[in-house]
Amino acid sequence: FARLLEEEGICVVSEEVVESCKPSVEHPVAIVLGTGLGHLAKLVRPVRRVDYHDVEGFPEEARPMAGHSFEATIGSIDDVPVVVYPGRIHLYQGYSAAEVTSLVRHAHRLGCRDVIFACATGAIRGNAEPGLGILCDQINLTGRNPLAEWDEVRGVDNPFVDMTDAYSPYLRTLARSVAEDEGIEVAEGVYAGVLGPCFETEAEVRALAGLGVSYVGMSTVNEVIMARALGMNVLGLTLATNYSGASDTSHQSVLEESGRKEEEFQKLVRGVLRML
Ligand code: 6GU
Repeated sequence: FARLLEEEGICVVSEEVVESCKPSVEHPVAIVLGTGLGHLAKLVRPVRRVDYHDVEGFPEEARPMAGHSFEATIGSIDDVPVVVYPGRIHLYQGYSAAEVTSLVRHAHRLGCRDVIFACATGAIRGNAEPGLGILCDQINLTGRNPLAEWDEVRGVDNPFVDMTDAYSPYLRTLARSVAEDEGIEVAEGVYAGVLGPCFETEAEVRALAGLGVSYVGMSTVNEVIMARALGMNVLGLTLATNYSGASDTSHQSVLEESGRKEEEFQKLVRGVLRML
């Protein structure tokens, strides 16, 4: 881990932290946090912080939205080496799929082989309820794909990526068993990624329900494609903050609801890290 950081030109401030990491975990785990879930970054024993603007391919002009911070923390959580990205940029802000996925390529360069994506979503009534969920598959409805932006996406030698079992069955099983052990209620379902930023119409909710979707959100799908193209193992966790198509949904209500459930979410992530 220390060597990888050095190769990336990141000087290790505290060797002691790196040395205290479990020898069984050969690679740091990347954790990408979505709207309202960024506080997990506070659990990290930091070795080094990286401003997103120093990440190759990250847009210079991007500024964090409310509830986000644009600084990755490299360090450890409960002695497991991690790189935590406490906020992300979205396609709906006008960024390209290549830009949106720059953090995933950064994590891969730092040596991460497992990546946990966490996102806020709306639950599709009939298929899911608000609460914590493990993502088991995805439908990319953004109309974008990072692998189609060929010149910009480096480090991928085959764009024809196999997307079966994109969400690691092993990591899903691990997350389920952690939830069971800790008494955390967690469902499982298919994630649909849409462009946003508007929420769904009633007709869109019916269409998504018919497609077998449980959770709908405005992130993650392109990042998962990027991660799979780089051969990383993906765990997708979501906090469904509301029903999709509910007229009282707002960005503010999403932030409030994610704040309420964040403790359970953190418990789940810590449990997964412990079991890796
Ligand atoms: Cl209802 N829809 C979408 N697309 N994203 C969300 C959401 C709903 N709630 C949180 N994120």
